[in-house]
Amino acid sequence: MITNLNKKNKKNKNILAELDQVTKIFTNGEVVLKNLNLKIFKNDFITLLGKSGCGKTTILKILCGLLKTTEGKVNWPTSTFKNSEKNPANLSVVFQDPNLLPWLNVFDNIFLPLKLNKKNRKKNYQTVMNFIELVGLTDFKDYFPSQLSGGMKMRVAIARALITKPKVILMDEPFGALDEITRFKLNNDLLNIYKKYKLTIIFITHSIYESAYLSNKIALISDRPASINEIIYLDKDEEKNEDYYLSTDYLNKCKKISKKFNYYNEVANEE
Ligand SMILES: Nc1ncnc2c1ncn2[C@@H]1O[C@H](COP(=O)(O)OP(=O)(O)OP(=O)(O)O)[C@@H](O)[C@H]1O
Ligand SMILES: [Mg+2]
Repeated sequence: MITNLNKKNKKNKNILAELDQVTKIFTNGEVVLKNLNLKIFKNDFITLLGKSGCGKTTILKILCGLLKTTEGKVNWPTSTFKNSEKNPANLSVVFQDPNLLPWLNVFDNIFLPLKLNKKNRKKNYQTVMNFIELVGLTDFKDYFPSQLSGGMKMRVAIARALITKPKVILMDEPFGALDEITRFKLNNDLLNIYKKYKLTIIFITHSIYESAYLSNKIALISDRPASINEIIYLDKDEEKNEDYYLSTDYLNKCKKISKKFNYYNEVANEE
């Protein structure tokens, strides 16, 4: 069930993105990432699992070009991701905070990326409505962010990330602030969206449980300076639902991940 990715994926076929010996030192001298190597494969649902402050958001920002590396390279070898005006839609980011524009209603917040690409509102009305339906907010399309719950706001952020039909979504602890029931519901919705659109998802979390439920690969991140301790490979075809969430199988999986996670932390503390 859990195997080492390096054994599984000897061939580097289908690499979508690659961080190669990435080091990040901020201007205050803090070394946050050190010689970090990570390969993302097409259709991965990979979680970056690490303790608070270890450098997860920094990795995500480097991957999507919001931050530059101090040393090392970021490659997107097999994607068409060019981050150009012509082709801005291949990668979307969902941050921990939904970052909605308070003066726009649900519809217009979701339409915003299309608007920025000079798309016509009337012509794209149905497309926006389809994504609103996908995230279950049809009855709330005219609501403003101040009238929405935390979970609803996050649904808007997810729909807004999907509207440009990205191939890759980077998510930075998007459900961290939500209650367990809403989080579980959104986890399942996200898995359905991942399958439906054949996405590649890079998902940041510090929850072992969430990583075990969602992903097919887990990158265990070391404490600062961050590097990848190990990639854990999980069964991709397991059916995810409430029964599975409450199953011994799932709990055992969480236990194994937790043990590995603690092992690396103990080794690091001894050094
Ligand atoms: N612009 C910056 N200048 C200096 N240090 C920074 C900067 N941005 C982040 N850091 C530092 O880098 C380290 C890692 O931050 P980062 O936000 O990547 O952690 P994280 O793993 O995402 O944490 P959390 O789980 O709490 O979100 C922290 O010590 C932080 O203080
Ligand atoms: Mg963070």
